[in-house]
Amino acid sequence: MRHALRGAAITLEADPFLAGEAPSLRHETDALIIINEGHIEAFGSFESLRHTLIGSAGVPIPLRQCGQHELIAPGFIDSHVHYVQTPIIGAYGTQLIDWLERYAFVAEARCADEAYARNMARAFLGECLRNGTTSGAVYCSVHPQSVDAFFSEASALGMRMMAGKVLMDRNVPARVRDSAQRGHDESQALIDRWHGQGRLQYCITPRFAPTSSPEQMAMAGALWQANPGTYLQSHLAETLPELAWVRSLYPDRLDYLDVYDHYGQLGPRAIYGHGIHLSEREMARLHDTGTSIAHCPTSNEFLASGACRVRDLKRADRPIRTGLATDLGGGTSFSPFATMLAAYRAAQAVGYSLSPVHAWYLATRGAAEALRLEDRVGSIAPGMEADLVLLDLASTPLIARRLTECETLEDQLFAQIVLADDRAVRATWIAGVLHHERDERHQP
Ligand code: GUN
Ligand code: ZN
Repeated sequence: MRHALRGAAITLEADPFLAGEAPSLRHETDALIIINEGHIEAFGSFESLRHTLIGSAGVPIPLRQCGQHELIAPGFIDSHVHYVQTPIIGAYGTQLIDWLERYAFVAEARCADEAYARNMARAFLGECLRNGTTSGAVYCSVHPQSVDAFFSEASALGMRMMAGKVLMDRNVPARVRDSAQRGHDESQALIDRWHGQGRLQYCITPRFAPTSSPEQMAMAGALWQANPGTYLQSHLAETLPELAWVRSLYPDRLDYLDVYDHYGQLGPRAIYGHGIHLSEREMARLHDTGTSIAHCPTSNEFLASGACRVRDLKRADRPIRTGLATDLGGGTSFSPFATMLAAYRAAQAVGYSLSPVHAWYLATRGAAEALRLEDRVGSIAPGMEADLVLLDLASTPLIARRLTECETLEDQLFAQIVLADDRAVRATWIAGVLHHERDERHQP
């Protein structure tokens, strides 16, 4: 069905790290967006498009008129997240390797029960919608049923999602361990069942080099090559003890990235979480191979892993496709605002200020570019899938007060980044269908 939204709108039309801010950000103060069959049919000023509001039988198409402090924006994209860790967000007192053993593997073991996993997937996707996140690259548990649960719930909502079962055949408890052959066979069966079904895509997911044997690493690379169009995701250079562990397990490799390179796991549609402790050689190799990084700032801060140097990753002479990510449950919030704020803090910690436009890019178009989906989601333009959010720019008394001090759109966006949460997401559309509308009765 055709319908339309009228109101202020923003979208990123290019990468501001490369093209500069002004040419990248499009701000329509009075936009009209025509949505048809799940896609954006037209986007422009209301004046230029008002004639399209009349349907074929001469009847006006349904129009939602947005309010004065509302802003239409592309849905946010989470380029690295573990849905199976939803119950352990904010687990106390550890850093990465202890955290995995004490909390993550224990939580993931419960997903052997498909009904439990389905419940978790439903809760996770509900939080995504409430926070304005419309797509993601998602880690499931080692159990194939956790992937079935996730994909069936995502497909019921019509969401564009990529996901995969984690492959891990060593250095993990037996309840969450597979073997090289079993991991391969289960992944292939999941690819056959789900990859390309509607808006779903399969992501081969060797968890990280320390938890896969060389045999499993080789199989994961071969599986990816054997299934064109699938994705591959893993973790890279998150903490210094992890780097030492990888060196001891793969002594013949040049560095951490070279392990993945050796097993054929770099290239377009490969996405690596974190990328904090990387050498210049590794960054150049990521660029040369078209491999992406998911920047996970709340997780990096919470687990004291370090501060990712996103400006270095995006250096104009060898830019790396980079998206923002929550990395729940190492990450501490579903909110893209909290995640953008953590990215700002991480940049501050290494000596520069990440602008609101750059942060917004990383959470939308940049994440879409990292996931090689920029021709489908992450911005507002004719032909794109209609995953949209409507933001309330004055969602709390404090933000409303702060807005009175803002002179520019950039000031307003930064106020949201610092102060907003899920209350700022008034509505979320998936492929043009309204799936979340903030319930005023639940507001304080
Ligand atoms: N490295 C390997 N597995 C994980 C995980 O689940 N979370 C984080 N943050 N890092 C990892
Ligand atoms: Zn992760």
